[in-house]
Amino acid sequence: MRRLLSLIAAAGFIAVSAGYVAAQPKTFTPREENIEELPAGPGREETFYTCTACHNFKLVAQQGMSRQRWNDTLTWMTERQGMPAIEGADRELILDYLSTHYPQTEPAARGWQNPFANQ
Ligand code: HEC
Repeated sequence: MRRLLSLIAAAGFIAVSAGYVAAQPKTFTPREENIEELPAGPGREETFYTCTACHNFKLVAQQGMSRQRWNDTLTWMTERQGMPAIEGADRELILDYLSTHYPQTEPAARGWQNPFANQ
């Protein structure tokens, strides 16, 4: 009888804790990215929607690259990450947008550089 009671108690405990877990509100709600947060300019829509098909735009916006390196990045996205190839005027538009708004950061902005290091 004691055994039965403790079994019932255990079952009750499990049921209660399952309910507790289910009732927990989601504590982590990633904020939706909004295209309006990107700098306005030609190519904004094309760039935003092309890149956010796979990942946050934050991953793009945190970079600063020359046009050539953005171009290489697009090639990399296509060859290694499965992005549909972007060519011609569309590619130019996206490259213009990226290199205008996310340009290569000046070396000076990266802090002290060793003047003797091979650049
Ligand atoms: C088909 C999916 C896909 C599309 C579309 C896509 N990417 Fe990516 N991208 C990825 C994946 C996957 C990674 C992570 C690769 C890794 O870190 O190995 C990534 C990572 C990146 C990174 C981070 C590289 C780093 O050094 O951390 C940049 C920058 C980037 N993508 C730029 C772009 C840009 C710009 C576009 C839009 C023109 C774009 N991606 C569209 C799949 C995609």
